[in-house]
Amino acid sequence: MASKILTTASLGLNSFLVEVESDIQRSLPKTTIVGLADTAVQEARERVKSAIINSFLEYPRTSIVINLAPADLKKIGNHYDLPIALSILQEYEVIKKCDEFLKKSIFVGELSFDGSLRKINNVISICIFAKENNYENIFLPYENSHEASLINGINIYAIKNLSELVKFLNNKIKLESIKNLNNLENIFIPENFEYNFSLIRGQEYAKRAFIISASGAHNISMCGSPGSGKTLLARSMPSILPDLSESEILEVSRIYSSVGFLNKENPLITQRPFRSPHHSSSLVSLVGGGGIPKPGEITLAHRGILFLDELPEFPKKNLETLRQPLEDGKITISRAQMSLIFPAKFILVTAQNPCPCGYLGDETKNCTCSNIQIKNYNQKISGPLLDRIDIHLTIAPVKENELQNDFVSDNSIEIKNQIKNVRQIQELRFKNDKILTNSEMGLALIKKYCIISESAKKLLGIAVEKYSLSARGYFRVLKVARTIADLEKSENIKTEHVAEALQYRKMCYN
Ligand SMILES: Nc1ncnc2c1ncn2[C@@H]1O[C@H](COP(=O)(O)OP(=O)(O)O)[C@@H](O)[C@H]1O
Ligand SMILES: [Mg+2]
Repeated sequence: MASKILTTASLGLNSFLVEVESDIQRSLPKTTIVGLADTAVQEARERVKSAIINSFLEYPRTSIVINLAPADLKKIGNHYDLPIALSILQEYEVIKKCDEFLKKSIFVGELSFDGSLRKINNVISICIFAKENNYENIFLPYENSHEASLINGINIYAIKNLSELVKFLNNKIKLESIKNLNNLENIFIPENFEYNFSLIRGQEYAKRAFIISASGAHNISMCGSPGSGKTLLARSMPSILPDLSESEILEVSRIYSSVGFLNKENPLITQRPFRSPHHSSSLVSLVGGGGIPKPGEITLAHRGILFLDELPEFPKKNLETLRQPLEDGKITISRAQMSLIFPAKFILVTAQNPCPCGYLGDETKNCTCSNIQIKNYNQKISGPLLDRIDIHLTIAPVKENELQNDFVSDNSIEIKNQIKNVRQIQELRFKNDKILTNSEMGLALIKKYCIISESAKKLLGIAVEKYSLSARGYFRVLKVARTIADLEKSENIKTEHVAEALQYRKMCYN
């Protein structure tokens, strides 16, 4: 029996080694795949057979058994076609490349009937796996070459069709490995924001809160009448967020690669994600899951923003499920056979009207809702969820004179630079703590970095009683105060910083 062809199994964002071996048996022609392969992998039999025949190569006219080892690891996906085809061809001695070369190579790709290779998902994770486990070569579909070029230190061959690869393995042609991008600094990051923070008129109080939120990655909620600019504020936030760092580009692109969202036009995710799922989205699409667990919106928003517009319209169950990922920055999806962890560190931005008609508390229009309607509307958002939001804003409609005024007080590039500097202060502070922003601080770090004066303590004490602040709320105020101090480049958290942070705990819901 010939040696094995190596490939990978992908579970969530991680990849594992899979060995493919074929055995030709003397009995009636039949192809069998064993080794916990799901339906899509079973279908590979038909594609592989057609691809081999249409590449003018010989397909065995006997019974053939293909084993995908280890047998206890579920094989899901369409990338097994190529390694299965190679394993058959090798067993049939159509491929001659020495065992030593094959032992150092990983093969992935879906085959068309005509033998050409089609795009697959999760290429970044597969390449990272191959590199970390010291494989020298990886062979993948040509269409995936852009995302694969992110990974350096391994020979990546982008293959167009099966016969090209067979010729290469038989030393009939030479192939060049693709050029790595090597240095992500060279990547051009376009600044094409649909909404721009500097175009928002007036709303100075709300803008200040958004700057604090973006600086420390604090969750923020808005409540205000229709047309007051809530959606506009949220959609403008990406224009002031600092660019993704190199490691974050890789981290986020890996997620998008796993769901097949990368293509030639967008080989990488270079801007912080802004995800705005509709309230009718299912729980699975929001948090991830499914028979074969896939990342949901909260993971696609990793290192960026998750915007929930018209918050009370979301089913209560969906909102409650967000509580755990908001606390942990990740979500664990458990199935009978596996348990997967997807990252989910995002800034939660929410918007809602104060009541069903939208005009409760509005100075110009009368609210037509009954007390019970208002109560039912706001009851959908539970206390524990609100508790996880650091900044609560009541948005008043922009005044007419401000709306007509063309004067722009701030430039979003300047604000972005200011926020970038505050993020750098935090990076330096947390360099040994494995976090990046103030909002991620746990109790131990809050104790270490959020030391406040006696007068600030007294103020907080009064607030605990007045706003009936929970313990979680108390510590969240401290974290926001830390960010406000950082914005002023102040080492110490002063009383005024705590006082400003406390302003943002006033909720319009009760
Ligand atoms: N402060 C503002 N500056 C400039 N335009 C604004 C402002 N507030 C609202 N608008 C305009 O009003 C429109 C409606 O605002 P929107 O954000 O959709 O309101 P809401 O989500 O609160 O109902 C926006 O698209 C924008 O054109
Ligand atoms: Mg809106």
